[in-house]
Amino acid sequence: MNMQTQYMGLKLETPLIIGASPLADDSDRVRALVGAGAGAVVMHSLFQEQLDGEHFSTVYLREMYADAQPRQEDFIDPAAFRASPKEYLAQIERIKRAVEVPVIASLNGSRPGGWIRYAEHIQQAGADALELNLYAFPSDPTISGHDVERQMLDIIRMVAGSVRIPVAVKLSPFLSSLPHFAAAAQKAGAAGLVLFNRVYQVPEDFNASSGENAENHPDGSHLQIRLYWLAVMAQHLNISLAISGGVNTGTDVFKAIKAGAHAAQVVSAVLRQGTDALHDMLAEFQQSMGQQQCQSIEELRGRMRFDQMPDPETCERVRYMRALQQWQA
Ligand SMILES: Cc1cc2nc3c(=O)[nH]c(=O)nc-3n(C[C@H](O)[C@H](O)[C@H](O)COP(=O)(O)O)c2cc1C
Repeated sequence: MNMQTQYMGLKLETPLIIGASPLADDSDRVRALVGAGAGAVVMHSLFQEQLDGEHFSTVYLREMYADAQPRQEDFIDPAAFRASPKEYLAQIERIKRAVEVPVIASLNGSRPGGWIRYAEHIQQAGADALELNLYAFPSDPTISGHDVERQMLDIIRMVAGSVRIPVAVKLSPFLSSLPHFAAAAQKAGAAGLVLFNRVYQVPEDFNASSGENAENHPDGSHLQIRLYWLAVMAQHLNISLAISGGVNTGTDVFKAIKAGAHAAQVVSAVLRQGTDALHDMLAEFQQSMGQQQCQSIEELRGRMRFDQMPDPETCERVRYMRALQQWQA
């Protein structure tokens, strides 16, 4: 059975990608992950807050969080980041030497700024692709959704325009018209979309400094919304799609590809179960492929596309109404 897939023009031996996380911090672990079946790895992010240096880290955050608890220093302590920008580049080189699979670096920011130039350094260090994470939490009532999206598109255009390597954009599901934004992102130069960022719980006490555990809940509750949007996006876009969030089993991978993904990113399952999780996922995925008599990923991909329904929007309304009407006392 052919497990190869194309993701942003890169050839992957399997559709499993290790998602952005500390899992790629150590070259030996990356080697083990690739040995267990990872087709590519995404490194943890370099954050805008690290890269815009003096100005952003000290001036902007000091003003912004002057009255906040914890103190602004807690947000900007360089030790809080996994690697300095220089170490990050060295890490790309180390991982590239350790494995043959594509290595995808990750830049994470939400406002235009000097950090965008770092994409070129990442390319020079040898990354095969870049994942751009635009995580933001717009809360200013004077800024319209259109303005928020325009700023995101400007960033995509600038990053994609500054490098030759393909750029994937990791999105949040909270945009008013995701298919419209996705098409605009494609036009702005994105070679792929990663669906989606996970939104970590807002703490009950905004001043509490402890963060939520970043791992997913193994009940698969994050998966459904992603499958839905993959099935919608796959009908409109010519770029690559990856799922991120809630992929814990080979059956989840199978569903994601059937819905239109080219690849499936995995983090929590590997953090919980170790590298063996990849072996098990691939075995289960192959079994599901066999049951459906699929010989290749291309054959499976998009079998569940939304546009194969006669009228997807009406179908969705009907499905929704039925769900609300079904309850019996
Ligand atoms: C410990 C940890 C660290 C993470 N670090 C990053 C990061 O640096 N950049 C990023 O874009 N996503 C990061 N993520 C999010 C993951 O890439 C992924 O989107 C999320 O965990 C959902 O996938 P999962 O359900 O397989 O865990 C991190 C997740 C975890 C659990």
